[in-house]
Amino acid sequence: MGTSHSQETDLCTDLDSGSDVRPPKPAPFSDIDLNQWRSYSEIITDSLWLLGARDSSSVHSAEYWGNFVPQIPHQAIRRFTKQGETVIDGFLGLGTTLIECKRLGRHGVGVELVREVAERAKDFVCQADNPYKVITEVLTADSREPSTAEQLKQLLPDGKAELLILHPPYHDIIKFSELTQDLSNMSSEEEFLREFGRVVDNLRPLLRKNRYLVLVIGDYYSAGKWCPLGFHTMEEVLKRDFRLKSICIKDIQSNRGKRNQENLWRYRALRHGFYIFKHEYIMFFQKGDR
Ligand SMILES: C[S@@+](CC[C@H](N)C(=O)[O-])C[C@H]1O[C@@H](n2cnc3c(N)ncnc32)[C@H](O)[C@@H]1O
Repeated sequence: MGTSHSQETDLCTDLDSGSDVRPPKPAPFSDIDLNQWRSYSEIITDSLWLLGARDSSSVHSAEYWGNFVPQIPHQAIRRFTKQGETVIDGFLGLGTTLIECKRLGRHGVGVELVREVAERAKDFVCQADNPYKVITEVLTADSREPSTAEQLKQLLPDGKAELLILHPPYHDIIKFSELTQDLSNMSSEEEFLREFGRVVDNLRPLLRKNRYLVLVIGDYYSAGKWCPLGFHTMEEVLKRDFRLKSICIKDIQSNRGKRNQENLWRYRALRHGFYIFKHEYIMFFQKGDR
């Protein structure tokens, strides 16, 4: 339905005439060769991400409360960058994104506010193999500040990056520090959204036109209500000339937080009439022309 005959013929030709003699046909913004599309079974193309166990290879550590599984930056980097391009992570934590950058041959710069966390990220990233000899940098800084954007710009080849990853605190669900600049210390969701918007404003100019921003975020409960932080942060990004390309749902069954409290949560859910969080969002946006 809605596909013309000629489009279908094109698609069939595209899909089935696979042969090694044809020159590579790169997918947009990546090294994926569309002439070999069947050989990329590990690349996710569905919106439901059931990732299973956390990838604990390389020097990845699960010790940081609130880090994401390496499969998230891995998938995003492979889909939306080419080897030798550059990734920015605006909320670096322990450096998961930069470890994946080294593994996949992309340059990377990460910003982390909390000095001790940034220092540990440097140690981890330093220990990771660097088979492609890429450059990775950790900045201890506030992602909202123009001076941070200026520092990043100096580090980027021609002042631009090809992928921007944002995994901010989920409002105050996990407190990352006592620092007032820490987005997990905002006094209300409104303030959190305003300050998150400042980060997007600040880092957006560093992203090349038409390239992708990936937002990893979850919702939370407060005062007996489901607070859709994912959709509210999505709106903040969309206000700033980005096109929404996908909302993926990632299963968080295996996250550690509530593992020992399953029964308590189940009781509360039945008692208070809600469903227990088992997912978070990975949202993909493409920067507009501005
Ligand atoms: C959800 S964690 C990111 C975890 C990361 N993806 C990882 O795998 O380790 C959010 C991080 O943002 C940092 N952060 C909070 N406010 C910040 C700000 N204004 N600028 C930069 N980093 C900030 C926190 O210290 C925390 O480490």
